[in-house]
Amino acid sequence: MKHKIVEVKNVLRTQDMFANLQSRSDITPGIGLIHGASGFGKTTTVTYMVNQLTSMGNLPAFVRCCATDTPSSFLARVMKELGCEPIFPLRKSVDFIINTMNEQQISLFVDEADHIIGQSKTMETIRDIYDATELPVVLIGMEEIARRISHRKQLFNRISEWIEFMPADNEDVSMFATELLEIDVTVGEDLLDYIRQRSGGEVRRTLIALEKIERFALSNELDFVDKAVWGDGQLFLNHSRRQV
Ligand SMILES: Nc1ncnc2c1ncn2[C@@H]1O[C@H](COP(=O)(O)OP(=O)(O)OP(=O)(O)O)[C@@H](O)[C@H]1O
Ligand SMILES: [Mg+2]
Repeated sequence: MKHKIVEVKNVLRTQDMFANLQSRSDITPGIGLIHGASGFGKTTTVTYMVNQLTSMGNLPAFVRCCATDTPSSFLARVMKELGCEPIFPLRKSVDFIINTMNEQQISLFVDEADHIIGQSKTMETIRDIYDATELPVVLIGMEEIARRISHRKQLFNRISEWIEFMPADNEDVSMFATELLEIDVTVGEDLLDYIRQRSGGEVRRTLIALEKIERFALSNELDFVDKAVWGDGQLFLNHSRRQV
């Protein structure tokens, strides 16, 4: 399988959403929210967009929260992304972050925000940073984050753009097959549809299935694989018969 990002609908929607945040008027707040199920491509998409922005001369900061994060470790992570060690007391780190973001017009992306959504102090610090910079801040998390953030009224009211990552549809699955398979093999529409159904549109599981098909085609020297050719082989974990 090739290592490249396929610009499926969720990727295009994310790019549009961020463009809206950047071009918003003064009266529209600038916090964005991206949520969706595990394996739908949120981290991949945001990392891809952050790299694109960087190559265009923007300076986005991307941090990924951990289960063990505290306000202090969260700020240390942001400081590190800005190329610095934390400064104590932490208020000084917050001031540094605000000044640096303002000076260099840095947008902040916070992945795995589920881990910090329950921490008032960290969430209020994010709001402080946003209020003092009014630069785009994008929170990324699983389905639950949208519900949980709605309880934090002050932050919730500042969200002007949000997208839910949707399951891959047939067109998306077909794009993954066309753009990611290393060898010249066509996957039949019935097999692509089967993959979409069985994966629930999850990109991670879709790519695992496509890689199995690629290996199968390679070892059997096939240039076309549909459901009939694939037979009853195992494509998904809970479907154990033939292993390829
Ligand atoms: N647009 C894409 N093009 C190519 N590969 C993709 C794309 N989107 C996702 N993937 C692949 O699918 C897998 C899952 O994606 P990713 O980790 O971004 O999902 P996620 O929504 O962040 O999941 P989680 O909630 O578990 O963190 C990754 O291995 C990634 O390489
Ligand atoms: Mg992720």
